[in-house]
Amino acid sequence: MSELVHGNLTGLREATVARLAALRELEIAPGAFLPRDLMRELAALSGEFNREIAVYLTRDGAVIDVAVGTDADVELRDCRLRRRQDRLSRVRCVHTHPNGDGRLSDVDLSALKAFRYDAMVAVGCRGGEPTWVQASFLTAEAGEEKILLPDPVRWYEVPQDGWMAQIAESDALIGRETAAGTEDARERAVLMGIESEESLEELARLAETAGAEVVGRFLQRRAKPDNALFIGKGRAEELAKDCQALEADLCILDEELSGIQARNLEDVLGVKVVDRTALILDIFAQRAQSAEGKLQVELAQLQYRSTRLIHAAGGLSRLAGGIGTRGPGESKLEIDRRRLRERATELRRRLDELEKQRGLRRRSRERTGIPVVALVGYTNAGKSTLLNRLTGAGVYAEDQLFATLDAVSRRMETDDGAPYLLVDTVGFIRKLPHTLVSAFRSTLQEAALADVLVIVSDGASPHMLEQHDTVEEVLAELGAADQPRVECVNKADLGGAAPAFPGAVLVSAATGEGLEELLAAIRRALGQTTATETVFLPYARGGDLQRIRALGKVLGERYTDEGTELTLALPVAEKERILRVFGDVFVRDRIQVGEI
Ligand code: GTP
Repeated sequence: MSELVHGNLTGLREATVARLAALRELEIAPGAFLPRDLMRELAALSGEFNREIAVYLTRDGAVIDVAVGTDADVELRDCRLRRRQDRLSRVRCVHTHPNGDGRLSDVDLSALKAFRYDAMVAVGCRGGEPTWVQASFLTAEAGEEKILLPDPVRWYEVPQDGWMAQIAESDALIGRETAAGTEDARERAVLMGIESEESLEELARLAETAGAEVVGRFLQRRAKPDNALFIGKGRAEELAKDCQALEADLCILDEELSGIQARNLEDVLGVKVVDRTALILDIFAQRAQSAEGKLQVELAQLQYRSTRLIHAAGGLSRLAGGIGTRGPGESKLEIDRRRLRERATELRRRLDELEKQRGLRRRSRERTGIPVVALVGYTNAGKSTLLNRLTGAGVYAEDQLFATLDAVSRRMETDDGAPYLLVDTVGFIRKLPHTLVSAFRSTLQEAALADVLVIVSDGASPHMLEQHDTVEEVLAELGAADQPRVECVNKADLGGAAPAFPGAVLVSAATGEGLEELLAAIRRALGQTTATETVFLPYARGGDLQRIRALGKVLGERYTDEGTELTLALPVAEKERILRVFGDVFVRDRIQVGEI
């Protein structure tokens, strides 16, 4: 029991230590600064053994530490929940002065500054009863940090609301005043995996992409996650110490957690807990550009959160902000179940509308007969860079994961003049959250419906083959199995990887090496998607000429005495439909047609 209470416990009776330990069980109501019952109990205990007692209260209303000192002081502890030096700690320190003096000392005020408490509070006690109380707060004015020291008040006149409001105000002021400084504002993240180093390595890249600084990574290989805590209890307790030592703001788990697991872990670790899914969703939320992308991400986040409402409604993450709590654009994530449902319905309706428009665009593209070539591949393989290289399109390409979320397309021509659309797509990733796959289904289907797939692999990655497998899996899930494919291994300039797939083209989007070969491979693949047909149209049907020209690419046009002879490249996928509509002119023996 004594580990629940620190400090000078010598000579204390067991029952007294038990009463001190029971303080740890208290739950302070939100909005209450210092409940009267707590002051009475502190004064009674302090009076009983004539020593100072300190308790540490979090903004969530938990008592995270209890310490006992001497009759003149108590060692004040650093109990920061937030480790960044510039911010407040989210913890207030309340301690007794058994000599009856409710005023804070200079030592108390330096501890306020050093440990960045939300508030430092002294409770004067005499004869086992509280007397006067004084609180102090950090604040900032014109870029300078100050201590706010209101006069002591009688213990029963503590302005509960007013002092809570002061904490909120100090927090906002200190955050604002120092945010402009040179402090590194990135959240400090500790990573925990149960699968493999590779997966953890990727998690680190994801965390950095989300804007975190990875300060530690740990792997506990286990066949199956623990139901309550995901990792074992002992390991969780060790991890809590690691998080403290590394001054982490959050811990990121390399798997999807249940709401209960996340909440339990947060309780043990004392820092915000985020899982891989929430992290990916967070990145998507920051990256989404188009209206459709934003709606898709928000819907995916709502779906993810709807099963974790218990978690969202309590615990540290409610207050913490940052990674895992951000929505796309300006939108705030809802945590109320009913509003969440309404919002999800509204998002689905708007997505349906956009999907219809997309369908219309797709059909009009089909009518013009321009085939689509989609660049697909693992995130960071270099798809956007390749598209830029090939078209000078200026698509956002960065050494970050998921730089591209929205399908971007550019019109291209083969060297024999046949037009096609080259489309960049969202990068794939292992353990891609299912909510995202379904939300992004329509975007991903751009890839599934393409006439040719160019599968781009990162030749510089030691995990190229596994990544390729993931891409295959996602494509299969999307039903994109039958199109002609071009295998392309990128980043040839970084050496290594000879083409690992039969017929793969080795390119470097950075230097331009191999691009001619890639374009030729695309042309050949497109060749498998188009069929050349010659059509004869009598002058009497001249009115149909425009419509027929638009069916495909006109490779030649010749005028004879009876009518017009057109040679067309037609999309194979569309040929059946075209034959149904214009079957009479698509007859091999044009003399017959002419005679009709
Ligand atoms: P997502 O948007 O995540 O799907 O990524 P992406 O596949 O579109 O990758 P992107 O084009 O953003 O490139 C990722 C990183 O790889 C960038 O830093 C590029 O500069 C780099 N890169 C791309 N191609 C090459 C290449 O041929 N050689 C080298 N050295 N770097 C490359």
